[in-house]
Amino acid sequence: MPLIAPSLLSADFLRIGEECGLLNASQADWFHLDIMDGRFVPNLSFGLPVVEAIRRATTKVCDVHLMILEPEKYAEAFARAGANNLTVHLEACVHLHRNLQQIRGLGMKAGVAINPHTPVSLLSDVLGDLDIVCLMSVNPGFGGQAFIPKTLDRIRQLRALIDEGGHEAKIEIDGGVTLDNAASIVEAGADILVAGNTVFRSADPTATIAQLKAIGTSR
Ligand code: DX5
Ligand code: ZN
Repeated sequence: MPLIAPSLLSADFLRIGEECGLLNASQADWFHLDIMDGRFVPNLSFGLPVVEAIRRATTKVCDVHLMILEPEKYAEAFARAGANNLTVHLEACVHLHRNLQQIRGLGMKAGVAINPHTPVSLLSDVLGDLDIVCLMSVNPGFGGQAFIPKTLDRIRQLRALIDEGGHEAKIEIDGGVTLDNAASIVEAGADILVAGNTVFRSADPTATIAQLKAIGTSR
């Protein structure tokens, strides 16, 4: 069964406490928290105080996705804020291996996200040094974009690299995940589904999360 990670980027921030309560009572596995700096991506989102507040509102895994330059400057602060997983972008890291060591050294799971144009083979020499690969299935920066179909091939390639190397890394898919495409994404080899609009714009987010979660059972 896939892990389900609703993205709070699409939540109603005026009712963020209630949104957290809804996720707590649902089958969601992780809270996916998108941090944007207006430099690595052409948008801003929220920062440390919001992550700290959400941390207090849940015992579920806080999966923090940093879409920022120089992520090494903020890793310690996100650890203090309560992040369980910290994902940095390969395209934003000059010293990726060092950044992964830093994240694990701070007691968090280390993730690497790659943009749709970045070959998955660029990760082959660090697959043993990370816990999560976040394959972006849209260009990062905004919720509600359409899934890029080529991602399915990329999942299969990455699955083969991980399995052939005997690695433990989990594959997370971020962007444009819907009830229509989730089965093919899981079938291709993904372990974790991020979903923003599909969850929070649905009439019944709890039921939508349950439907996403059940996808693995029909595999
Ligand atoms: C995009 C973010 C995603 C986004 C997903 O830059 O990293 O996590 O919130 O939103 P949906 O599921 O609406 O594409
Ligand atoms: Zn994200």
